[in-house]
Amino acid sequence: MDDRPRPEHRVGEPPDAAALHSILVEAFATYRDWVPDGWRPRMDLADRGAWRIAERLGEPGYWCLIAESGDEAVGYVVLRPAVTREEPPDPIPSLAHVWHIFVRPAWWGSGVAARLVRCALGEAERRGYTSARLWTPRDNARARAFYRREGFRESGAERYAEDLDLDLVEYRRPLGGTMLAP
Ligand SMILES: CC(C)(COP(=O)(O)OP(=O)(O)OC[C@H]1O[C@@H](n2cnc3c(N)ncnc32)[C@H](O)[C@@H]1OP(=O)(O)O)[C@@H](O)C(=O)NCCC(=O)NCCS
Repeated sequence: MDDRPRPEHRVGEPPDAAALHSILVEAFATYRDWVPDGWRPRMDLADRGAWRIAERLGEPGYWCLIAESGDEAVGYVVLRPAVTREEPPDPIPSLAHVWHIFVRPAWWGSGVAARLVRCALGEAERRGYTSARLWTPRDNARARAFYRREGFRESGAERYAEDLDLDLVEYRRPLGGTMLAP
C-alpha cells in the first residue's frame, strides 16, 4: 500500500503483554477523535491492561500475532474462541472471535492491519472455525470501513459495553480462502 518497510510477524506470548499494551493505549487514545466530549472508559487501561492481556494470552484457544518493525511492535491481533455472554459463558462452536486488533496510528493505512486480520482469519480456518466475529464501537467509522473492506458484515447485533462506555456493533465473516501465512 505504501513505501514503509514491511514489518515482520511473530506469534505473541504472555511476556509480550507490555509491548501489546503500549500499542493498545496509543491506538485507544485515538478514540477521542470521535467519542463525545468528556468520555471516560470505566476500565482502567493504564493499571490493568497489560496484566489482563498477559493473563488472556496464556489461556487455551488464544492466538496472538504481532507485527514488528525493527525492535518496535507496531500492531497486533488476538484470536480466541467465541463464547456466549451468559455467566458462565458457553462456547459457540465453529465461531472464532477477533478479540483485539490494534495498530499504532503511524502505521495506519500501511497494510499492517490488513495483513494481521487476514493472518488471523487464516489461523481461524486452520483451527477448524467456519466463521469469525468481532465487536467494534458503533461510531468507530474507520474500523467499520476497514472491517467491511476485509469482508466482514454487520450482523445486526448491538450492545452497550459498560467497561468502555460505548455502543458496539457486531460484525461477522464466513471463513474460506483466507489462508495467509504470517
Ligand atoms: C482499526 C485499525 C486496526 C485499522 O487499521 P488501518 O491501517 O487504519 O486500516 P486501513 O487504512 O487499511 O483501512 C481503513 C479504511 O477506512 C477508511 N477510513 C478512514 N477513515 C475513515 C472514516 N473516518 N470514515 C470512514 N472510513 C474511513 C479508509 O479509507 C480505509 O478504507 P479503504 O481502504 O477502502 O480506502 C486501526 O485504524 C486501529 O488500530 N484503530 C484504533 C483501534 C481500533 O479501533 N481497533 C479496532 C477495535 S474493534
